[in-house]
Amino acid sequence: MLKIFILFASLASLACASPLYVHERRSEPPSNYTDLGPAPADHTLTLRLALVPNNMDGLHEKLYEISTPSSPTYRQWLSKEEVEVFVAPSSETSSNVKNWLSSNGISYETVSPAGDWLSIDVTVARANTLLGAQFSTFKHKETSAQIVRTPSYSIPASLKGHLDFVHPTIAFPMKPKGGPHLISKLSTLPKVKRNNLAGEAPSSCDNSFTPSCAQELYGIPTTFATHVTNQLDVSAFENEYASQSDLELFLQAYRPDLEGKVFAVEFLDGGENIQSSPGLEANLDTQYTVGIASNVTVNFVSVGNENVDDLDGFLDIVNLFLIQNPTPHVFTTSYQWSEYQVPFSLANTLCNAYAQLENVNPEIAASFSSGGFSNYFARPSYQTDAVNSYFAQLGSEYAGLYNASGRGIPDISAAGYNYVIAWFGAFDLVYGTSCSSPLFASIVALLDDELAGRGQPPLGFLNPLIYSTPQAFNDITAGSNPGCGTEGFPALPGWDPVTGIGSPIYSALRTAAGL
Ligand SMILES: *[C@@H]1O[C@H](CO)[C@@H](O)[C@H](O)[C@H]1NC(C)=O
Ligand SMILES: *[C@@H]1O[C@H](CO)[C@@H](O)[C@H](O)[C@H]1NC(C)=O
Ligand SMILES: *[C@@H]1O[C@H](CO)[C@@H](O)[C@H](O)[C@H]1NC(C)=O
Repeated sequence: MLKIFILFASLASLACASPLYVHERRSEPPSNYTDLGPAPADHTLTLRLALVPNNMDGLHEKLYEISTPSSPTYRQWLSKEEVEVFVAPSSETSSNVKNWLSSNGISYETVSPAGDWLSIDVTVARANTLLGAQFSTFKHKETSAQIVRTPSYSIPASLKGHLDFVHPTIAFPMKPKGGPHLISKLSTLPKVKRNNLAGEAPSSCDNSFTPSCAQELYGIPTTFATHVTNQLDVSAFENEYASQSDLELFLQAYRPDLEGKVFAVEFLDGGENIQSSPGLEANLDTQYTVGIASNVTVNFVSVGNENVDDLDGFLDIVNLFLIQNPTPHVFTTSYQWSEYQVPFSLANTLCNAYAQLENVNPEIAASFSSGGFSNYFARPSYQTDAVNSYFAQLGSEYAGLYNASGRGIPDISAAGYNYVIAWFGAFDLVYGTSCSSPLFASIVALLDDELAGRGQPPLGFLNPLIYSTPQAFNDITAGSNPGCGTEGFPALPGWDPVTGIGSPIYSALRTAAGL
């Protein structure tokens, strides 16, 4: 009886299945994973289905329009509801995907406000049939953690253009790189004498960079911000915890006027903030936001390991912000991957999620990576003149070794060496692009506070403003970024793929912001 029932059930599903076409595949698992063979048929998978938004191009177009300083609608940011109109799938898309699930006897849950993400629970056996997949168990060579993935999956032709991708399927969790590097432990507290000339830091800043060095070098004011809505979010991944007592020590030494300031803490995906094991990155990020963005509310968001996005929480945190009202204005992330480590579908979704935040500067994280050109994203129009001018100077050097049509990276730069931080109750020196990110985010938060004081909207998506006001940045024309067995791209006059447009000049940014 049982056998007959099973036979009937599988015949029935065969009868209504339409032919499947491969939708995404990868040639082999990342080198750190071993294939242990087929996953148990009764193992339950929670899969997320990304539906094609009805008008993402429209959102991008609108975003460029409202973030371009010469546009009559400059900084007239959209409301969440207005954004959702672009992001929501069309009713045809929704019903196609939902009917396909229902006809296969699968119930779904809508898990995003715009309805562009569905979640389903299915067994491996069911998922293999539904998606023409071969889900296997993979073991990480170092951590021994086991995960279930498939080398490819397929969908019916009728869902092309409606179902963007299914996840997790071919994407493997890849730990992002973060973290400044420790240079030395300091036995005495570095003292930095203040100069009174903005734009010129005292020479002691060469050996130890502190908040007053940043203030002098970039002309950042020490005036307190006053608007409670002007919050600066600091993300933390990879069990990086930030210490309140180290912050206190740091402020006593370098910003006594801010003594007593703390950061707020928010948890996501089972994140924690264990005070007895602070991380260099988290301490750096909190000390150089609280310590530079005077009296701005700094919110430390600790993302744990229970991620639902397979992007180590990078997408989860943006989705967290998207359900907040108002969404945060400035958000700094000092963690990164190499582009090729993330499948295009996920990278694109992350990019589109940032586009929905829109009045947040979405480029801070990527901007501080090592520099070059994207193989995933085409060059945006705001970069055209700057990048062409660089190519004209570079000539044929490295031709064929980089993707000349790709988006150029980074946009801007800022000091990144010999930062003094407090860690485990003592002072240390660190370096890395991780240093520049909280510093620049603090500058943007202070400008936003001044704008709020005049009843004006925040700076938001900054890139078109950056490229149209190069005079607000110190052009850096020396150095290069060696790699791939070459000397690397040289820094040259104007934008370059090493230092971007340059480092910020607070007073000129004020002018550019209309202050
Ligand atoms: C993969 O393994 C290499 C060498 O064992 C290691 O350096 C690297 O950090 C690992 N990467 C990931 C993402 O686990
Ligand atoms: C600090 O900011 C808060 C709002 O977050 C404001 O109420 C307070 O007046 C500010 N403090 C000073 C000294 O300006
Ligand atoms: C170069 O970048 C473009 C995006 O501008 C992309 O479509 C193309 O696939 C890239 N080429 C290679 C070889 O990756």
